[in-house]
Amino acid sequence: MSEILEAARALREGHLVAIPTETVYGLGADATNPTAVAKIYAAKGRPADHPLIVHFSNPDLITTWATEVPEYAWDLARAFWPGPMSLVLRRSELAGDFITGGQDTVALRVPKHPVALELLGQFEKLGGLGVAAPSANRFGKVSPTNAEAVRAELGAYLAAEDFILEGGGSEVGIESTIIDCTSERPRLLRLGAITAQMITRVTGLEIDRGSSAIRVSGSLASHYAPNAKVVLNQVARPGDGFIALAAETTPDSAIRLIAPDDVEGYAQQLYFALRQADALGLERVVAITPKGDGLAEAIRDRLQRASF
Ligand code: TXA
Ligand code: MG
Repeated sequence: MSEILEAARALREGHLVAIPTETVYGLGADATNPTAVAKIYAAKGRPADHPLIVHFSNPDLITTWATEVPEYAWDLARAFWPGPMSLVLRRSELAGDFITGGQDTVALRVPKHPVALELLGQFEKLGGLGVAAPSANRFGKVSPTNAEAVRAELGAYLAAEDFILEGGGSEVGIESTIIDCTSERPRLLRLGAITAQMITRVTGLEIDRGSSAIRVSGSLASHYAPNAKVVLNQVARPGDGFIALAAETTPDSAIRLIAPDDVEGYAQQLYFALRQADALGLERVVAITPKGDGLAEAIRDRLQRASF
């Protein structure tokens, strides 16, 4: 039996599976099984009232998990699923408090990675409806973008029946864009590779810029943080780690962590670089933030949070 099918069975039996996705690796459990979902919180050391994203492969499952799906949400789903986008919608009865953190909304995503899609497809064939999966890191830490990082971060907290699936490096490298679809217009709850401009192009609607009453853990000021102190746009001292686009030259005696050619590469390599800083035991990392909107804005958002 293939490892993916074994992992799908393990999910149905209430075990955990670390799942490669195109954004970051997730730690998955059957989203209809409160005991299984509780294992996620234990492994992550995450407070229990933080809501989880439910993942599936068949976009039609949107109406199994959500009610009142506005037309623009369907437009977004058709345009960007499978892909790095999560939609927040009014929950159906299936979405328990243990998934939504007691809120009356639920976040849904169809990821793009072939291993994730295969796993979710197998899981659905076995009668599964959705897999709750936060990023596969300890609470507040940097999200893993390869299987090795998941093993390092969570290996000690997983059971023998749990799986860590291998899927190479995550292509996008930062978490999905989260869009609140509970009002007349879409609202951005977390920036990511699906940008405001893309959302407006597909829906014909301007983003609602008002502040949302919805809680998002990734929106806590301090999040995605390595042990090293991250400082932004300062002069690097000897021994500092250095993160910047390739066009920026490395300051004297600083340790170059990554030198991506463009913002896509920057997003893809960012979390690897932050982990690398810790692996090298660096005390301080200087990051030169990319300019511009879209993905550059999402990168600045993550660096800002890592720097608190
Ligand atoms: O790219 C991703 O989204 C990755 C991969 C694994 O899919 N997952 C991820 O999950 O980043 P997590 O749990 O680390 O972040 C999910 C975010 C949290 O900030 C959570 O608060 C928010 O989604 N969220 C989940 N359900 C929500 C809801 N009903 N309303 C508002 N925010 C919600
Ligand atoms: Mg996370």
